[in-house]
Amino acid sequence: MQQQQSSSNNADGSLHAQWSGRFIFILAAVGSAVGLGNIWKFPYVSGENGGGAFILLYLLAIFLVGIPVLVAEVLLGRRAQRSPINAMRHYVTTHKLWPLWQVIGWFGVVAGFLILSFYGVIAGWALAYFFRALSGAFVALDAESTGKLFGAFIADPEKVLLWHTLFMALTVLIVARGVKTGLEQAVRIMMPLLYLILIALLVVAVQSGHFMDGVRFLFAFDWQAVTAQSVLAALGLAFFSLSLGMGAMMMYGSYLNKTAPLVQSSVIIAVADLSVSILAGLVLFPLVFAYGLNPGAGPSLVFITLPVAFGQMPWGELVGALFFLLLSFAALTSAISLLEPLVAFLSENRHLPRLSASIWSGVLIWLFGLLTVFSFNLLATVTWLGRTIFDWIDFLTSNIMLPLGGLLIAIFVAYVLPKKISQEELSTAPFIFAIFWFLLRFVAPVGVFLVFAYGLWDALVPKAAA
Ligand code: TRP
Repeated sequence: MQQQQSSSNNADGSLHAQWSGRFIFILAAVGSAVGLGNIWKFPYVSGENGGGAFILLYLLAIFLVGIPVLVAEVLLGRRAQRSPINAMRHYVTTHKLWPLWQVIGWFGVVAGFLILSFYGVIAGWALAYFFRALSGAFVALDAESTGKLFGAFIADPEKVLLWHTLFMALTVLIVARGVKTGLEQAVRIMMPLLYLILIALLVVAVQSGHFMDGVRFLFAFDWQAVTAQSVLAALGLAFFSLSLGMGAMMMYGSYLNKTAPLVQSSVIIAVADLSVSILAGLVLFPLVFAYGLNPGAGPSLVFITLPVAFGQMPWGELVGALFFLLLSFAALTSAISLLEPLVAFLSENRHLPRLSASIWSGVLIWLFGLLTVFSFNLLATVTWLGRTIFDWIDFLTSNIMLPLGGLLIAIFVAYVLPKKISQEELSTAPFIFAIFWFLLRFVAPVGVFLVFAYGLWDALVPKAAA
């Protein structure tokens, strides 16, 4: 009789895998946080929103909203020692709460599935561009030719598919090997390389002769460029960049031992993430200005504008290859955090071996990713309210699901769970706890709600009108 009752790996349903130490947890969390959001999105969004003034808003968003929600997520995961879905189920049953709170876990796994489906495609572009840069494909091209090159690339589903498949295979390979031999090894190798490459590129940027132009562009205080919209952009970006709202940080927190200090670790993670964003901006813009290019926006900055600079500078093949390697590493250490909650859930509950759980999840996400691949070619004309299928998946996850997930997490920890749990988990000085509690109860929900409401509003306005 008793045997039938336990359907999970351990009798109490908890996970037993753990990080080797707190440092590895921080490294993995920084790996999750640092991704396309830092190297591709942060530079152009801050440029568009008034540079230095935006960075100030971004700092406020990170410290007042991002860090409290990050602490809340890690706390939930570490306390339960389970993947997000089972963690929420655990809280609901042990504290006799409203069963609907379990949506936090399910929502996160679905959001992770959807985000990874397009994240993998864009990361595939970065992989392809690594080899292109190395082979000297950009030598002496102008912006028109690199634009054509990129246009022809994403218009070719077979080529994009190849790189997308390769990237997803790498992600599955790492996750399938488990926490210690998979995730840990991957971040141990890739994160130091990522920082090394960033510093090497910074040296190139400093020597470009236009470093100060980049600094001015990024840090120029232009209060007039700050609008309600840039406040929301700062909040939204802080959220995406810290990997909040879908349980990735909850998952990583569940592998953390009970003694690690949560507030201090979260601050380190946030500062490391922030520093990569700023360094990426300090690498990108001097190069853009050194070659008389337009600081432009969006995917075109990294895949069209930068290659022109790489094609003209001395050692450009190497510098360009390093840049796209940086982008690929950053994306890979984020992708594994998007896949892990689903795989951990499947292998916890269904007795599915980790290998099969990883392969099956990977294959399904890969299949769903075809919608993104085809959004740039075969299905490019399939649009609704001016958005392609890819635009909709991106929009639905980043603007709706993540803020909503973050809002629910903040409310759940600050208002639903007994306060004692947070106090026990944080075990920090009373005045630090008071600050955390105030931010999580009053500041974070309001901030996240604004992002969410703005996201919804934005959905109703067709893109073409913007
Ligand atoms: N933070 C990553 C980036 O900046 C993306 C990411 C990874 C993410 N995992 C996440 C975003 C979980 C939201 C939720 O690119």
